Parts: sequence; structure tokens; C-alpha cells
Amino acid sequence: MDEAAAIARLQACGIVPVVVIEDAHLAAPLARALLAGGIDVIEVTLRRPAALAALETIAREVSGILPVAGTVVTPAQVVDVKEAGAQAVVSPGFSEAVDDATRAAGLPWLPGVATASDCMRAVSAGRLTCKFFPAEQAGGTATLKALSGPFPQMRFCPTGGVSLTNLGDYLALKQVLCVGGSWLVPADAIANRDWARVTQLAREAREKVAALRG
Ligand code: 3PG
Repeated sequence: MDEAAAIARLQACGIVPVVVIEDAHLAAPLARALLAGGIDVIEVTLRRPAALAALETIAREVSGILPVAGTVVTPAQVVDVKEAGAQAVVSPGFSEAVDDATRAAGLPWLPGVATASDCMRAVSAGRLTCKFFPAEQAGGTATLKALSGPFPQMRFCPTGGVSLTNLGDYLALKQVLCVGGSWLVPADAIANRDWARVTQLAREAREKVAALRG
């Protein structure tokens, strides 16, 4: 998938569920629960040993959902997630090494930015679509608006402290492509295999996005 197609998918969905998964066996039912609620993107973060197997399972068994690898911080992880079937990569920050590795792998990449210096590095590398992380902690919509002054060409996926209550504030900004967050995929819901709850959270979020976009 090329970068434009990946960005179009993220924008159309409007929400990226950020998943921390402890057991790869739960990956496919989790992805299906999100799909049932209208969310066709899943970011599996490389924060637990099960993450790569989870990505691989989703890529192999769940059609219709875009498997994205998150918390990718080294070039070696880019190689691993490509092998697992990820179709895009998200990082919490910017690094030249991961920039190079994602280009070599032919994977779309959303680096994380939180400051004007981060944005300068991203723009210099031609990375105009970035994760804004950690969104709320870095100043939320006020910071995003301020960054868009010098960087009007950038588009952002704010993540970190985003939830159903504030996603509308972000999505109302034209520079916001989509928002990300873990509120859709609570650890206890995953552990308890409460797929109905995940579907309900996904549906609520998608309804809110649809209402905001008219
Ligand atoms: C991320 O890595 O994107 C964040 O940890 C997600 O932040 P949240 O848990 O506040 O949604």
C-alpha cells in the first residue's frame, strides 16, 4: 500500500485504535470486534512480546482491516513488522534511522512530533503527515493550532489523552487527519474477551465522527 492510500484509509476512518496486546490469540477477535463497530484500522503497538504475532494473525486472518504497527522505534522493528504483514508504521517520535528503514521497506510511516523542532525534522525529511504525540500532554488543540502557523503543510493524527469527550475538538481542525487512542480497546475488555464492549466503543466513536463530518 502506498502512503497516499494509507493516509486516505486513516482519514476515512477518522480514528486509530491504539492496542496493547498481551496474547496474540486475542488479536483476531479484537480486530473483528472493531470492524463490527465500523473501525477498519488497527494499530498494534510493539510494547508486549505478543505484538508481532498479533500483527501477523490480523494480517493473515482478518480481511478488511488495515494492520498498522505502532511504537516502532528501531530500524530492526521496521523489518520485523513488514515481515509480520503491517501495512503502515507509526512511531512516537522522529528518527532518521526509522525514516530510512521505512523507505527501504516501502512502508508508509507516521513519525511522532510534539514540538516545532520535531516538525522541522519531519518536514525536512518530506514527512508531512505525523502523529502528534502526546497530544493532550503537549498542549492539545492550542499547541496544534500554534504548530500549524509555521507548518501549514502538515497534517496530524493527535494521540495521547484523546477520548470520546475531546475527539471532536481535534477533528474540527482542518489539519487533523484522524485521532488515535487506547480508550476504544481497554485492557480489561481485551483480557475478558468482552468483544461486545469493544464493538460498542468503536460504534460510538464512529457515530461521533460521522456526526462531526456531517
Ligand atoms: C500512543 O502510544 O499512541 C498512546 O499511548 C495512546 O495514548 P492514550 O492511551 O492516552 O490513548
